[in-house]
Amino acid sequence: MKKILVTGANGQLGCSLRQLVSDSTRACVEAGDFVWYFSDVLKREGWPTCFLDITDPEEIGRFVRDEEIDIIVNCAGYTNVDAAEDNFEAAELLNARATGYLAEAMAGTGGLLLHISTDYVFGKEPYNTPCTEDRTGTPTGVYGLTKLHGEQAVISSGCRYVIIRTAWLYSEFGRNFLKTMLELTATRPEVKVVFDQAGTPTYARDLAGAILSVLSSGKGENAIYNYSNEGVCSWYDFAKAIAEMSGHTDCEISPCHSGEFPGKVRRPSYSVLDKTRIKETFGLGIPHWRESLRRCMDNL
Ligand SMILES: NC(=O)c1ccc[n+]([C@@H]2O[C@H](COP(=O)([O-])OP(=O)(O)OC[C@H]3O[C@@H](n4cnc5c(N)ncnc54)[C@H](OP(=O)(O)O)[C@@H]3O)[C@@H](O)[C@H]2O)c1
Repeated sequence: MKKILVTGANGQLGCSLRQLVSDSTRACVEAGDFVWYFSDVLKREGWPTCFLDITDPEEIGRFVRDEEIDIIVNCAGYTNVDAAEDNFEAAELLNARATGYLAEAMAGTGGLLLHISTDYVFGKEPYNTPCTEDRTGTPTGVYGLTKLHGEQAVISSGCRYVIIRTAWLYSEFGRNFLKTMLELTATRPEVKVVFDQAGTPTYARDLAGAILSVLSSGKGENAIYNYSNEGVCSWYDFAKAIAEMSGHTDCEISPCHSGEFPGKVRRPSYSVLDKTRIKETFGLGIPHWRESLRRCMDNL
């Protein structure tokens, strides 16, 4: 039976994976063909967790050796895109160097690293067709740059790896666009949302399901894959759908330009991922974003 270490297990994706694997709230769980170890630096009420700080290579080495870990699923990350602009060192440490430590640990044992990355590894160049995995580009900010360095550290480590790039992640857990919009549309008469950035929302539970399919298949190693839900929308369309599905119809949602909400980082204007490779390699069916949004809201 293979042993899997999940890092960042108390974040959005980590919790979604935990929930999918087992309804048990133990830090170590036997489920299906795998034994799962859920680790994080963050404590979450009701979710017992092994403590593992992935910026400490010795701790990683000890954990991998002591528990005889075969696979690491890296859900940890410095994910605050705006804060990263003022904290390059912290973002680089977590997104790049620590990812490299995990990769080196797996290179040393012959294990597999499944690492989660982002569409923000490119985006500066204007493009208007769905992005395949082979397209290269320039990140728009520190978060994307450090995630790109993380991908490079994985590939150059020589470990067996799978990298999955995702985008616009939301879930029942933590803070995300869905939860913010639910709150705003319930309490405000009007909300403005940008319509000049297009992409596809990703329900973290669907991505967790895709991760399970990849791990269970035992194939498709040493490649990068894209994963989001199907379809394309703007943040404005996403907000409209959230308000409609939640019945918050008293709130008027109006489209606006990105310039009205200048952030520290320019977001890609078109960031749709082409998912042909992951669908064909693993025989995955991917739900449309509206269908998944409805399921997530039912689960909230
Ligand atoms: N969120 C998105 O829209 C999005 C889009 C594309 C790609 N991604 C990628 O998808 C992955 C999962 O994202 P997410 O939204 O689930 O992230 P998240 O909710 O921010 O979870 C990340 C987890 O990692 C933990 N962590 C922080 N420092 C750590 C350390 N030194 N060692 C171990 N764990 C540590 C965090 O704890 P603290 O909360 O205490 O820091 C948190 O529990 C990330 O790689 C992210 O880059 C996310």
